[in-house]
Amino acid sequence: MRRSPSENSAVSAPAAPEAGWWRAASIYQIYPRSFQDSNGDGVGDLEGIRRRLGHLVDLGVDAAWISPFYPSPMHDFGYDVRDYCDVDPLFGSLDDFDRLLAEAHALGLRVILDFVPNHTSIEHEWFLRGRAGDPDRRDWHIWRDPSPSGGAPNNWLSHFGGPAWTFDETRGQYYHHAFLPQQPDLNWRNPAVKAAMLDVLRFWLRRGVDGFRVDVISQIVKDEQFRDNPENPDWTQERPEIERRLQLYSGDRPEVHALVAEMRAVLEEFGHGVLIGEIYLPPERLVAYYGEALRGAHLPFNFQLLETPWEAGALGAMIEAYEALLPQGAWPNWVLSNHDRPRVAARVGSAQARVAAMLLMTLRGTPTLYYGDEIGIGPVEVPPERVRDPWALREPHLSVGRDPVRTPMQWDASANAGFSQAEPWLPLTPDWAARNVATQARDPCSMLSLTRALLALRKASRCLTLGSWRRLDAPAGVLAYERAFADERRLVALNLSAAPKLWTPPAGEALEIALSTTLARAGEKVGAQLALQPDEGVILLA
Ligand code: GLC
Repeated sequence: MRRSPSENSAVSAPAAPEAGWWRAASIYQIYPRSFQDSNGDGVGDLEGIRRRLGHLVDLGVDAAWISPFYPSPMHDFGYDVRDYCDVDPLFGSLDDFDRLLAEAHALGLRVILDFVPNHTSIEHEWFLRGRAGDPDRRDWHIWRDPSPSGGAPNNWLSHFGGPAWTFDETRGQYYHHAFLPQQPDLNWRNPAVKAAMLDVLRFWLRRGVDGFRVDVISQIVKDEQFRDNPENPDWTQERPEIERRLQLYSGDRPEVHALVAEMRAVLEEFGHGVLIGEIYLPPERLVAYYGEALRGAHLPFNFQLLETPWEAGALGAMIEAYEALLPQGAWPNWVLSNHDRPRVAARVGSAQARVAAMLLMTLRGTPTLYYGDEIGIGPVEVPPERVRDPWALREPHLSVGRDPVRTPMQWDASANAGFSQAEPWLPLTPDWAARNVATQARDPCSMLSLTRALLALRKASRCLTLGSWRRLDAPAGVLAYERAFADERRLVALNLSAAPKLWTPPAGEALEIALSTTLARAGEKVGAQLALQPDEGVILLA
């Protein structure tokens, strides 16, 4: 039962959540550094998130996924974890976390944590002890002797550029790091590592969390023989260095699926938490992560909307192909932006961002909405002296920087957009004084109003949450589909072009517009043809 933020004080956490709640749910990703600062240091924190939970309720999302807030030296802004079972003082304390979780639950919101199993921080006690030769931690990370010729054990590359191996003088060995040298990879082939990491899940599940988004889950096991990756014949200098080789042996190994199933089993010890996997793989390989008999991830993250050209034909074909590849009973999911990829409004423009939001909220599958997309945060120039992303700093000649997608949430027109009393750690977008939650909440046609309307419509309709999906004929530039559940039907027609379009719905039905991205046409009856304005999407009631 959803309550308004002011009513929640006397409400306790909900009873055990029902199985499969994540199917009809929508998820909202919070990058904690950038959501709300409560202590005036220019960086967001857990107390800030707690104070802003009302925004999630007003928006109509069901769950918050919070990117890492664990103790960390912040070489990769929290994706380098020093201690999996605590909170970095920058973000608050475990008490702050418990308060946040209790209040979220009282508001009917679920909380999903980010679990980072592939690597620790170089400052994690396990690594420090392993490096010092402690026999109990010797093989907790991936240590290898130099190759016979004296160099790195193989040719694997780091995702952030440079070799994926660093030589350690103390041990006279190399350690493997798929990301920064400050992020050594754990050795999941060591049963003690696996047990300790599964206990981390239990630690947070006992506190009451509702699931995990698992960072680079597909890479946690590497080839047992550490074979060289093959060269990528298509690589060019404009591409990140990691793409120079095909990552055949450094990830997505067959052994990973048993480990994913073990994580899932831990969740099930506690009830019905959701397991989401971060997996950047083509759909044919991605769907394997649902696991044998669907005992793997509930939601292997599907990044196809981020990777497909923004064009009706390409998107339609991609959605059909993904739907067709899903194993029987597997539940789809969709995402438009995240803290690693360009924001949707920066990629497709602010007019199409509205169409994109309608697409996200009307496809079959659980949508994940990235904070700030609900107000259409778009491009931002981060001046060289303010660049913070380690990847951008390591490959400055490429446009791989992730700072522009991590800028502070824009709440209102007060100083620093209401995000902080202090100068924020990253700049705001140039249009923040007009593009913010408070301003858009007053505008019935804003992106925020559209996002709220979409989420409300979705929630009110089993057809939009749980119904089947079928592509419909449409002219070039238009993507059209049907959602159906029992006798409920909705048709969706999205004009992905900047020209007006005429769409002919399937014959013989009385149709009415339930929602247009313009927010101006609800209730309009549709005859034999529907005139779509440039960059307009509509949901039709059949
Ligand atoms: C994932 C995260 C990314 C991080 C990397 C290393 O891809 O989403 O932000 O840098 O893993 O942990």
